[in-house]
Amino acid sequence: MKPKIIFIAATLMAIAVPAHAETMKAIVAREYGGPEVLKYEDVPVPTPKENEILVKVFAAGVNSFDGNLLAGNWAKPPNGTQLPWHPGYDIAGVVEKVGSKVGKFKPDDAVYAFITILKGGGYAEYALAKESDAALKPATISFVEAAGVPSVALTAWQALVDKANVQSGQTVLINGASGGVGMFAVQIAKIHGAKVFATASAANQEFLKQLGADVPIDYKTQKFEDIAKDIDVVIDAVGGETLARSYPVVKKGGIIVALTSDVDKAQLRKYGIRGASLVVQNNGNELAQIGKLIDEKKIKVVVSETFPLADAAKAEKKADLGHTRGKIVLKVRDEPK
Ligand SMILES: NC(=O)c1ccc[n+]([C@@H]2O[C@H](COP(=O)([O-])OP(=O)(O)OC[C@H]3O[C@@H](n4cnc5c(N)ncnc54)[C@H](OP(=O)(O)O)[C@@H]3O)[C@@H](O)[C@H]2O)c1
Repeated sequence: MKPKIIFIAATLMAIAVPAHAETMKAIVAREYGGPEVLKYEDVPVPTPKENEILVKVFAAGVNSFDGNLLAGNWAKPPNGTQLPWHPGYDIAGVVEKVGSKVGKFKPDDAVYAFITILKGGGYAEYALAKESDAALKPATISFVEAAGVPSVALTAWQALVDKANVQSGQTVLINGASGGVGMFAVQIAKIHGAKVFATASAANQEFLKQLGADVPIDYKTQKFEDIAKDIDVVIDAVGGETLARSYPVVKKGGIIVALTSDVDKAQLRKYGIRGASLVVQNNGNELAQIGKLIDEKKIKVVVSETFPLADAAKAEKKADLGHTRGKIVLKVRDEPK
């Protein structure tokens, strides 16, 4: 290229990109589809609103639900996902900037957060979180581990504690117990003094025991309904036929919490049981309580695989299979020393 042309090109670029714009690497979907639509791009660093924090992201959790968002199944106006779509809603990092009304956090605080799913933005070097959606990161675990906690641990907590009000001495059946939600559900049920029946495939039976499950069940060779009877609380993270077979195992007056669909009211009436479906809610206070239990070594976090941010599409492909042990996490940058 001749010097004159270089000069013109540089001038045009200077006009197109304002001098103050700071950019970062982020994952962006400019169309809906499978994981292959995820691109690794340069985008502007976002600016926090008055109630938001800007987090320098060290790690971001990958979720099996992401496939739905990517496919555009939640793109209904006015509040659905919008293109370009910025995925990622579980983050762990360090506060870079705070909005004018933020009082809970200050720059350099290590935090983790479950950020608004339909807004996303977590698969990036910097991400915004509402102050109320974040908590201080548990100090005893890494950023990678912390990024595996927020949405799935909140789901397990809200299902067992907020919906089912699980009590000591009760029996709990967890379907899909070796995945992100299940890993936390088993441990939260144990902390509350329940006897835990937990289903996963043969490869995860030992893992279920390590999490504290009293009765691990291999769903491929055993029928949970032959083993788990008169159950007080069922948490179903599998759905379909597994959910349908779960109603009869609940004792009269007991409760089934469905995580993948609505509960079948006719089945609830038939068996004289209660039911609830759950949509996980952002909740920084509950995240702080969970973090305390992690630091007290009452809850462990297992991350089975990490991918660099640039390989988000590969990570999503793996998560889509629905057989993750614990969590898959994107490592956005090296852990601080
Ligand atoms: N309602 C909400 O707010 C909410 C929030 C979070 C997640 N979810 C939903 O909950 C579900 C689970 O999420 P997740 O993140 O925990 O998924 P995940 O990490 O992919 O884990 C799924 C786990 O289920 C096990 N599994 C698969 N088929 C099974 C079966 N037939 N019986 C028993 N276990 C089975 C797998 O173990 P094996 O490999 O051993 O088969 C795997 O460990 C997803 O559908 C997700 O969308 C809902």
